[in-house]
Amino acid sequence: MNKNKSLKTEMLFRLVIPLIFFVIFDATLSYFVTLHYVDAAYDRWLLDSARSLTQEIKMQDGKIVVELPTAALEIFKWDEEDKTYFKITSSEQKMLAGDSLVPEPIDSKTDWSQPVYFNDKMYGESVRVVSMLVALDKAPEKVFIHVAETMNKRRATMLDILLADMIPQVILILVTGIYLLTGLKKGLKPLRLLAEQISQRSLRDLSPIPETHVFLEVRTLTDTINELLEAHTLAIATQQRFIANAAHQLRTPLAGLKLQAERALREQDLSAMQPALQQIQNSADRMSHLTTQLLVLAKSEPINGGYELVPIDLCQIARKTCMDWVPKALQRNMELSFESPEEPIYIQGDAILLRELLANLLDNAISYGYDNGNIWVKLNNYPLPCLTVEDDGPGIPDIEINKVFERFYRIPGSTGNGCGLGLPIVKEIADLHKARFTLSKSGSKGGTRIDLIFATT
Ligand SMILES: Nc1ncnc2c1ncn2[C@@H]1O[C@H](COP(=O)(O)OP(=O)(O)OP(=O)(O)O)[C@@H](O)[C@H]1O
Ligand SMILES: [Mg+2]
Repeated sequence: MNKNKSLKTEMLFRLVIPLIFFVIFDATLSYFVTLHYVDAAYDRWLLDSARSLTQEIKMQDGKIVVELPTAALEIFKWDEEDKTYFKITSSEQKMLAGDSLVPEPIDSKTDWSQPVYFNDKMYGESVRVVSMLVALDKAPEKVFIHVAETMNKRRATMLDILLADMIPQVILILVTGIYLLTGLKKGLKPLRLLAEQISQRSLRDLSPIPETHVFLEVRTLTDTINELLEAHTLAIATQQRFIANAAHQLRTPLAGLKLQAERALREQDLSAMQPALQQIQNSADRMSHLTTQLLVLAKSEPINGGYELVPIDLCQIARKTCMDWVPKALQRNMELSFESPEEPIYIQGDAILLRELLANLLDNAISYGYDNGNIWVKLNNYPLPCLTVEDDGPGIPDIEINKVFERFYRIPGSTGNGCGLGLPIVKEIADLHKARFTLSKSGSKGGTRIDLIFATT
């Protein structure tokens, strides 16, 4: 199932749904406000009808008399849309006139200082009722007028007002939706064009995308893609250079091997073959070393991703590697000392690559240091985890310090079977661990000092 959402639909939903909610909220609010004003207007007319009846209630010989002329009754029949009913009662609950079914307020605590309005049912129809107390001089009891009216006019007026309010709002939503849809289509067109442009490119085409797009957001996207393409072009160029160098470096010992093998084959006598066989062994050693270094370098290149950074104890790795290198140091009568705190030093790292890093530094210290010399490997945890490898050999001349990190570079006249990849490997692995790497002269000892400062876990 395709779970990718359409940006257009998403944006449309995000804009139109709040708009619909707003309209619903507005309609609800309008309903109650309209209801209030419609009720207020019709209630006033209902009260007028009730008041008109008060004039027909009189006192005659201390008794309450209701005389309703036909003209007064006509008022209640006049309306065609609604039916109006009335009832006049006294406090003794006696019917004085009208329809006895007209509802009255049932609450005994009703405040009669004001007319009382309420909704009820009469003859199966909803009615609005007003009840009022009639102020009569010298009346022996209280007289009430109740007028009920069906609600057809109110409903019709409510509907008219609500429709007048809602129709423009619904049109507004529709127009806004259409406007947004066309706007979004237009706005997203550059993205579609960009996708087409990119899909038509060949795999080898890493040239930047032309900056012809007007929208800032699309420009940001193309800028990011262009930065990525630039980094990619650089990485590919570096890799191609590296492959060319590696091929060249491998060709030399291979050619030597072939030459020496031919020389050995020409000899009849076994003792005469010895120098050629010795050369073959040297070339094979060199090639094996070169191949190992190339593989380590390939593994430590970020572009290859052959590493995994996990919390590891730097002390344990360094101690084990130093122990492995003691026999080599002893061959040159060198002393390899190891100093570390008791407690472990945890860093985010790749154990295999860190072992290779230290192995290269120890190999250099042993290969280029003096016979009977010293090598110190020190670990510190404060303020940050730090690994130091120091020797009291001849050191690296200042002029060479930057060059020794170039791949395949060896200081002219360097001894041994090295191929100039040790320090570039160290730098690559240090970078991968985001460790700060410094190469300096070893103070009083006069040799080389390398410090690697790691970030904490
Ligand atoms: N501790 C050191 N003391 C003196 N010179 C050094 C030291 N470490 C490195 N160098 C010099 O720096 C050069 C580069 O060292 P690097 O380790 O990169 O290559 P390499 O040792 O020649 O070859 P590889 O390590 O690949 O076998 C070496 O040729 C050597 O001359
Ligand atoms: Mg080396």
